[in-house]
Amino acid sequence: MKILIVFYSRTNTNKKIAEALAQKFNGDLEEIKSVKKYSGIFGYLAAGREGMKKIAAKIEPTAKNPADYDLVIIGTPCWAGKMASPVRAYLMEQKDKIKKVAFFCVRGGSDPQPIFDGLAGLCGQKPLATLALRTKEVTTNDFEENLKEFAAKLN
Ligand SMILES: Cc1cc2nc3c(=O)[nH]c(=O)nc-3n(C[C@H](O)[C@H](O)[C@H](O)COP(=O)(O)O)c2cc1C
Repeated sequence: MKILIVFYSRTNTNKKIAEALAQKFNGDLEEIKSVKKYSGIFGYLAAGREGMKKIAAKIEPTAKNPADYDLVIIGTPCWAGKMASPVRAYLMEQKDKIKKVAFFCVRGGSDPQPIFDGLAGLCGQKPLATLALRTKEVTTNDFEENLKEFAAKLN
């Protein structure tokens, strides 16, 4: 099975999980890069506003074609209870090229279900599996069991 892992990460926790998944599945990685960098307090506020208002960010062109993959795993941080605005932008552009999806989300502690529902709604399909982790679990490397469970659902 050919797998693409697509993610956005402002502070590298989703990136860490994306890289761990790429290694586990021998998958390809696509990092979504936003034009705006969301740094500093004004960046944080802009990110929160865009998340809350379901705004699609401006993103840089991506390299991989999701249609070339059997499964696309999408990873997003939680921004004000919603998916991050660069992930929304990516899915609005690419959703029709995605055959099957799975989702992961690293967030502070909010209920991840509304984010997974938002991702599924945008993709127009249900995920094969979902993985929700807290920021702290990622920074302390306490996620191997969750990763294994997620992988088992996909295999
Ligand atoms: C603007 C903004 C809003 C956030 N809102 C939430 C939230 O509502 N709930 C939550 O659990 N975490 C929230 N977070 C925390 C991030 O989801 C968390 O730090 C995550 O690990 C960041 O992922 P990254 O390191 O891949 O960027 C927010 C972070 C930012 C920057």
